[in-house]
Amino acid sequence: MESFITKYGPWALVTGASRGIGAEFARQFAKQGLNVILVATNKRLLTEQKDLIERTYGVAARTVALDLAREDFLDVLIPVTKSREIGMLVCNAAISTVRPFLEQSEEELLRQFYVNARAALILTRHYGKHMAERKRGGIILLSSASAMNGTAYVANYAGTKAYNLILGESLWYELGKQGIDVLGFMPGCTKTPGFEQHNPEPGRLVTVMGVMETVAEALEALGKHPSRIAGGMNRLMYAIMGRLLPRRQAVGIVSRSMEKIFHPFN
Ligand SMILES: NC(=O)c1ccc[n+]([C@@H]2O[C@H](COP(=O)([O-])OP(=O)(O)OC[C@H]3O[C@@H](n4cnc5c(N)ncnc54)[C@H](OP(=O)(O)O)[C@@H]3O)[C@@H](O)[C@H]2O)c1
Repeated sequence: MESFITKYGPWALVTGASRGIGAEFARQFAKQGLNVILVATNKRLLTEQKDLIERTYGVAARTVALDLAREDFLDVLIPVTKSREIGMLVCNAAISTVRPFLEQSEEELLRQFYVNARAALILTRHYGKHMAERKRGGIILLSSASAMNGTAYVANYAGTKAYNLILGESLWYELGKQGIDVLGFMPGCTKTPGFEQHNPEPGRLVTVMGVMETVAEALEALGKHPSRIAGGMNRLMYAIMGRLLPRRQAVGIVSRSMEKIFHPFN
């Protein structure tokens, strides 16, 4: 079997790597021996992650403080990555908001669309082309369980996550023929700053996972499946809902659970 570093090295590019799931992806790649490029907007948190990774794993790490909502964000990244072979791309950066749709401005919604979906599209095309030339590589597109069906109070977020899921699954087949492993990955509730900012009140049926186990599930599924929902309970719940319930019931269940967990009207 090809080693992780031969297949996906020597550099991994991870967006949203200043904290949460993205930072954990970067750490797990570094542990496997990959050098990492960390992209996000918060310079201080990026530098902390870079220092930790270099100190702990002895690989090289670079940071790029960059707003992925910028029209021209790729022009900033290209000079940093031109001389570095990106064998692994993780499109993880996202803006998550839990609020009634009509209370959000068009500007906020478009910004979320740009970071969550447009940036993933542009990065996947650009680095996917380079990977195809080398006939190897990996791309992980962060989706969410909310991509499985419409979900109230995160309507735009869920739409962007559905986009990533379908882009990932489609390219799993198409780019798979060119030696590139693509995965649409759906974390369940995972304890991160982004999750906790919404002051969740998870009920009995909701399992909150740690970042290490969530990321480990993505890496385990990469190269084997077009997509993966993290967590055995989540997989079971969505399998039952997807197969047994009419769509309107499934949308109702997840939307009511959003009201209970996140209190979107507060
Ligand atoms: N945690 C969960 O329960 C959960 C569940 C389902 C799906 N997910 C998905 O998993 C991924 C990671 O989630 P998380 O909970 O770790 O998120 P998080 O804690 O909110 O972190 C989001 C990351 O994205 C970066 N980011 C946000 N806006 C950006 C922008 N304009 N330009 C560049 N970077 C930007 C943030 O960095 P800066 O603030 O430094 O820019 C941060 O590093 C997301 O795609 C999310 O949709 C998470």
